[in-house]
Amino acid sequence: MINIMFSYTSIVFALFFFLCIIFQIHRRQKCKYPVFIDYPFFGMFPPVLWNLWRIHDFITEALKQQHRSTCEFMGPWFTNMNYLVTSDPINVHHIMSKCFDNYVKGDEFHEIFDAFGDGIIASDSEKWKYNRSLFHSIFKRKDFELFQEKIIQNKLERSLIPMLDHVQQQGLVVDLQDIFNRFTFDNICLIVLGCDPNCLSIEFPNVAYEKAFNQIEECIFYRHKVPKSIWKLQKWLQIGEEKNMTNASKTFDQFIYANIESKREDLRKCSKNIEMVDLLTTLMKEDNGSQVVVHDDAFLRDAAFTLFVAGRDTITSALTWLFYLIATHPLVEAKILEEIKENFGTINIEKSLGGDEVKKLVYLHGAICEALRLFPPVPFERKQAIKGDILPSGHIVNPNTTILFSLYSMGRFEDVWGKDCLEFKPERWISERGGIVHAPSYKFMSFNAGPRTCLGKDSSFIQIKMIAIAILCNYRVILEEGHIPSLSHSIVLFMKNGLKVRIAKRYV
Ligand code: HEM
Repeated sequence: MINIMFSYTSIVFALFFFLCIIFQIHRRQKCKYPVFIDYPFFGMFPPVLWNLWRIHDFITEALKQQHRSTCEFMGPWFTNMNYLVTSDPINVHHIMSKCFDNYVKGDEFHEIFDAFGDGIIASDSEKWKYNRSLFHSIFKRKDFELFQEKIIQNKLERSLIPMLDHVQQQGLVVDLQDIFNRFTFDNICLIVLGCDPNCLSIEFPNVAYEKAFNQIEECIFYRHKVPKSIWKLQKWLQIGEEKNMTNASKTFDQFIYANIESKREDLRKCSKNIEMVDLLTTLMKEDNGSQVVVHDDAFLRDAAFTLFVAGRDTITSALTWLFYLIATHPLVEAKILEEIKENFGTINIEKSLGGDEVKKLVYLHGAICEALRLFPPVPFERKQAIKGDILPSGHIVNPNTTILFSLYSMGRFEDVWGKDCLEFKPERWISERGGIVHAPSYKFMSFNAGPRTCLGKDSSFIQIKMIAIAILCNYRVILEEGHIPSLSHSIVLFMKNGLKVRIAKRYV
């Protein structure tokens, strides 16, 4: 009896082994080039794990060797971590625009990015359409643009400049990324909630909900690194990163819900005010022409959270990399200052400039585009196919396939940007007639492409220019010797150990 059982078990094992080999041969045929070696059971995960510390550059190198910078990535067996990874502009155009309806954020995105709730970034179909037209109508208002500019001007004059003066006078080494983070957190709180937490002050206060917010983003990235079953189990057991996620979400939600409650109270007390106020109040007072639309607390919370991610971290990241690149390219710095002088007669600018004024600065615009190309604040994106499809590159998409786009890689391909693609060259963006060169969004994807293009694109350029001018005209930013920047592991491309600098006065 035992012998029979033993031989049955052997047959089952042999069969299983045989099927594994067949499956393995089939999988090997899918990825033609050798950077992503497809190991039995572990799939292509080992080289990814090995290169995790330099994941964005590793993916770029790997994609460069694939046909049309597109490749199937096979995760360990039974983990459902299989993706189609692409950085081919023609594929991007196909997915993001031409066949927009077939490619959605999908359920898995919703699960991984659960902190976004049903906000615009995580939603699809009707929910997305509603959110899109709502925010579009608010963002295009002139009074909203002026409201934002005023907040930035105040923050620059009352907080950032005094803070940098203090750092300069004390001869301190500071983390410029932390300063930008504090600046943009105060800024987004004022825009979305109408309150100023004063994170940017010389005491460098520890603001719990600001920390909680950063923690949530790290946890979302973590969910991309491990199989779903692992993070789900951790979530269920409330251990590790998932425990941090729960605690951070609680802290941040308490902060948002308290704000919603106090805004409702304020609105009950005072009558309608037509002047532009914070976004939360604007959403609470939204009317559809005949009556006020009442949004529940969950809708307002999701909208606020989304705007915090969309409008805060992206700007911090863009500013940090821009200042790193300027500090390491003195010629570019000189040209930016020259352009300011040409346009405003001096770089000794007393009051911070407004949106219409900063729009004139073409060279600075080119420098910002370059920083966003080389270091896109959102380094990767994902979409899920509803129906099967064939991409322009010839790759087959099965229903439910998850597609990952490496925006970081796209900015570093010679066939897209030329032989000098790794150089920081603002001139790339300036036409012979001195205007700004237009790059189609499927090639310069930093603000996304197609109908879901970033709604804050124009306002981002204004904000970044206003902040950059205020700093560059007053100070020289000097990199601390020995500080080597590296890329963070987060859904937003920060500098892992911050940007350590000294600040010197720019005497004119
Ligand atoms: C340098 C600054 C910025 C960059 C690089 C950037 C980039 C992006 C990207 C890549 C997306 C697509 C995300 C996805 O679908 O997964 C996006 C969407 C979005 N962004 Fe921005 N963003 C920036 C600033 C802003 C600002 C300041 C706001 C406004 C507060 C904003 C509002 C939005 C909104 C509402 C969406 C969702 C659009 C939709 O799904 O229809 N962004 N942005």
